[in-house]
Amino acid sequence: MAELQEVQITEEKPLLPGQTPEAAKEAELAARILLDQGQTHSVETPYGSVTFTVYGTPKPKRPAILTYHDVGLNYKSCFQPLFQFEDMQEIIQNFVRVHVDAPGMEEGAPVFPLGYQYPSLDQLADMIPCVLQYLNFSTIIGVGVGAGAYILARYALNHPDTVEGLVLINIDPNAKGWMDWAAHKLTGLTSSIPEMILGHLFSQEELSGNSELIQKYRNIITHAPNLDNIELYWNSYNNRRDLNFERGGDITLKCPVMLVVGDQAPHEDAVVECNSKLDPTQTSFLKVSNLFLGKLTEAFKYFLQGMGYMASSCMTRLSRSRTASLTSAASVDGNRSRSRTLSQSSESGTLSSGPPGHTMEVSC
Ligand code: BEZ
Repeated sequence: MAELQEVQITEEKPLLPGQTPEAAKEAELAARILLDQGQTHSVETPYGSVTFTVYGTPKPKRPAILTYHDVGLNYKSCFQPLFQFEDMQEIIQNFVRVHVDAPGMEEGAPVFPLGYQYPSLDQLADMIPCVLQYLNFSTIIGVGVGAGAYILARYALNHPDTVEGLVLINIDPNAKGWMDWAAHKLTGLTSSIPEMILGHLFSQEELSGNSELIQKYRNIITHAPNLDNIELYWNSYNNRRDLNFERGGDITLKCPVMLVVGDQAPHEDAVVECNSKLDPTQTSFLKVSNLFLGKLTEAFKYFLQGMGYMASSCMTRLSRSRTASLTSAASVDGNRSRSRTLSQSSESGTLSSGPPGHTMEVSC
């Protein structure tokens, strides 16, 4: 049925005089995605099929925002709160969003048969080109959480020309050392898989606080019909290789990166270390507390603005008044600049910032 609709669109809108095949292709893609608001697709890859859901209408010459979720979640449970957050709307309306579900994590996914070889995180990263090829997108801004952040970072290392920016939340770029393995094995003796995954997603303080949010996620994970699949993704995460970032070396992220960590997150040290290994002229570091979505949204806006994708007129009055010292050598559209300075203050704390072009720590 979807195939039929696609054919109809191209027939009803023949090439306009002077329209290039590229423009026609873009128009066709726009129409296809318009039909596909929030529609889920699957593509075959060398490592099995991968499912993704597309929202929004493509804007010419703009990258797609591509998200990758953490273990124990899928795109909806991981990103819906952020992407449906009110202040986020003025940002995302300018972009197509492609939300990838790790294999077996999509809603209604059947449980993999016993002995199924789940892809490694590196192989999950290698599935992404098939998604972009299907949608005919040449570049992305990646937004990943935990395992998803690792996958997008690996993808960016392998395909630097296709990644315009990365927002990496709670990334741990290191392989587990033997001490981590010993601790992991010990925890495994006394804890169930859902509890171990919750320990990855939340801090001990948050877990023992047992807030409504924690109860919600505990419930989702414990009663997930695809818990066996979740365990396979969890195992791949725990067997990840070291990303081997080295400051000033060959193995580094070449695009602007916003590293984000919750101030109680179990991964704080890993993110801080990651920050120390990346190019300080390209990396900003954001530590957020309870006001997570508000702060994250605001920081995301600055990040996009630094890449030339958000006019300052798109920023809320509140944001503008807080950013008297925000500099962004960027134009409204397309003409991106790599010169970015984020220097903010917020009502909930003092934000320290380095000199222009340096990595800074923003505590909100
Ligand atoms: C989005 O608009 O990108 C979105 C909508 C629902 C869930 C997740 C993302």
